[in-house]
Amino acid sequence: SADRKFFVGGNWKMNGTIESGKKLVETIKSAKLDSNVEVVVAPPALHLLPVQEALKGTQIQVAGQNAYHQVSGAFTGEVSVSQLQDANIPWVIIGHSERRTLFGETDANVAEKTKAALKHDISVILCVGETLEQREKNESINVVVRQLDAVKKEVDDWTKIVIAYEPVWAIGTGKVATPEQAEEVHAAIYDWAVKNLGQGATDKLRVIYGGSVAGKNCKELASKPSILGFLVGGASLKPEFVDIINSKL
Ligand code: G3P
Repeated sequence: SADRKFFVGGNWKMNGTIESGKKLVETIKSAKLDSNVEVVVAPPALHLLPVQEALKGTQIQVAGQNAYHQVSGAFTGEVSVSQLQDANIPWVIIGHSERRTLFGETDANVAEKTKAALKHDISVILCVGETLEQREKNESINVVVRQLDAVKKEVDDWTKIVIAYEPVWAIGTGKVATPEQAEEVHAAIYDWAVKNLGQGATDKLRVIYGGSVAGKNCKELASKPSILGFLVGGASLKPEFVDIINSKL
């Protein structure tokens, strides 16, 4: 349905220069993109505005990779949700595993940030996912449910949230989840949503997959009924990102 437009995000992480970002935009712009896909790219904070400028008039939007929940104040080095709003940045990624692991973000921090972003009218790509150790202990679904429950405590309206299932062991490793592995967790997330958000909200919810998505594996993943898009890291920096956007063609 229109509410569940296929969603492809490109997380550029801490890569590139202003110039390389613009070049990448030119590559994407010159390609023929499936117009039924919502595309959002997340450049480094310093590059958000030039990239947004370069994307004017296209179907592609931009996202911050992180934001702090306080509006302003003595928080050296942070960018606030309200500063993103002031710069007309429509999306933000919250709870990426690199933020959780390398920068110590807890489930509660992620919930707080999600709530603050929504309050400032910024849509959220909310990342969840288990580590390899947790998968081996058969805890994948429990972990994801725990991460979602934490946000649900703070946020009632999930209409502006896209959930990205990113198993940590698949991120940047070239070890993509099999379509069956991803589908199993996505289906569990939809079950969680029916119970916690209601059927109406669930019908509009998009759960997307991230972790070593590439041109060569995107079509098979996209053919699964509960995979409504992707969050792409490494491959979003390459021309192959276009093939991933066009997975459904
Ligand atoms: O946020 C996307 C990401 O973590 C996946 O990275 O490089 O495995 O596509 P990559």
